[in-house]
Amino acid sequence: MSKASPHFVCASCGASHTKWAGRCDACGAWNSVSQEEPLSAGPKAMGGKGRSIVISDLDSDEPAPPRQSSGIDELDRVLGGGLVRGSAILVGGDPGIGKSTLLLQATASFAGQGLKCLYISGEEATAQVRMRAQRLGLSGAKVGLGAETNLRDILTTMDAQKPDLVVIDSIQTMWLDTVESAPGSVAQVRAASHELVTFAKKRGVAVVLVGHVTKEGQIAGPRVVEHMVDTVLYFEGERGHQFRILRAVKNRFGPADEIGVFEMTGAGLAQVHNPSALFLSERGQPVAGSVVFAGMEGTRPVLTEIQALVAPSPLGTPRRTVVGLDSGRLSTILAVLEARCGIPFTGLDVFLNVAGGMRVTEPAADLAVAAALVSAREDVAIPPETVLFGEISLSGALRPVGQTENRLKEAAKLGFSKAIAPKGSKLGAGSEMQVRQMADLTSFVGEIFGAG
Ligand code: TYD
Ligand code: MG
Repeated sequence: MSKASPHFVCASCGASHTKWAGRCDACGAWNSVSQEEPLSAGPKAMGGKGRSIVISDLDSDEPAPPRQSSGIDELDRVLGGGLVRGSAILVGGDPGIGKSTLLLQATASFAGQGLKCLYISGEEATAQVRMRAQRLGLSGAKVGLGAETNLRDILTTMDAQKPDLVVIDSIQTMWLDTVESAPGSVAQVRAASHELVTFAKKRGVAVVLVGHVTKEGQIAGPRVVEHMVDTVLYFEGERGHQFRILRAVKNRFGPADEIGVFEMTGAGLAQVHNPSALFLSERGQPVAGSVVFAGMEGTRPVLTEIQALVAPSPLGTPRRTVVGLDSGRLSTILAVLEARCGIPFTGLDVFLNVAGGMRVTEPAADLAVAAALVSAREDVAIPPETVLFGEISLSGALRPVGQTENRLKEAAKLGFSKAIAPKGSKLGAGSEMQVRQMADLTSFVGEIFGAG
């Protein structure tokens, strides 16, 4: 093979040249042209040690990865229909939120379905875990229990025991003797996760890594763990509330926006099959500033109460306090209300809250947020038995959102009879709900509050 002729490239504009030059004649930059290795070095140039990989067609009928149901519907849904063999799952959450409880219950349930399960705790002694199991009424479950932090020993044990599912609680406590930094450091967490994920793939063992979340809301240590695993689940909830939400934020084996809803009871976590009823259970008489948003979480409609409080501010810069919603979204909606509807919030403190400790991320909540804000400011309650949904654009127009039919069905199921939705929403046939469709925020504010 003839040697490829040298190749020169300008670092400033990317133009290629056949010979070196002090000045690139394409862009005029000085001293930017240098010689580059030809791109097509080929396997011979790399030492010829590669091996040919198997290439298959997109339509080859390899069977879908087998899934195992946990017997806990709320968990199965978040996993995309059950546990996939050989998959790696990260479960993140604040300390004390209930991760260990959830995973102990899940492992016991998987064991009940015939899987061989190991639960390795790096944080608690076996006696402590056993005590918790007793409290949860799981003493009889066939779960192998271990307390260890040395990953070399854990991997050797996994090799010998040949489990189907291993829970590592938590990844921050694990350490590898080949890595010279302390457990919990980025290097250790990364190396330990890599070892465990590689093991999972090679042996077809499902591995669940528990990860603590820092105050900033990130899995302590590395975001890289999130890239290594197939599925990332967050376990969240407010301290003062019993509700716990297991949220899929990444899933290579299923949809990534599903949630599972649980309630923390004296005997562990109980499934909540009808979250809307739960989130609305604390609702009393309709008051100004409180509205019901018909939302979607993945494939499931969830109704939540959005509450706003608006009060004169003693501060130079009024407060904007948000719980359960994006604060950037609040700023946007306040700006649209001021610029398009002539409803200013200057000099007013604004508090916005999703009741029950739920977190709403859908833009479809915009209209409900705006309604709660104006309702609080004008001290006028939204008509009772009404749900709202719709996205607000910067122009003040209301945009239809997906799954309108499902939202309305859920609202009707919970005893609501009216809905306010953007113009052009696809209502579907035979809805029992009385739906008022509105084109923009100004007409909404005018009709409902007689303001703007
Ligand atoms: P835990 O699972 O230890 O949290 P994590 O592993 O995320 O740190 O849960 C701790 C909390 O859960 C603790 O404050 C007590 C509460 N809890 C109950 O309310 N009921 C129960 O049955 C159990 C086991 C725990
Ligand atoms: Mg724990």
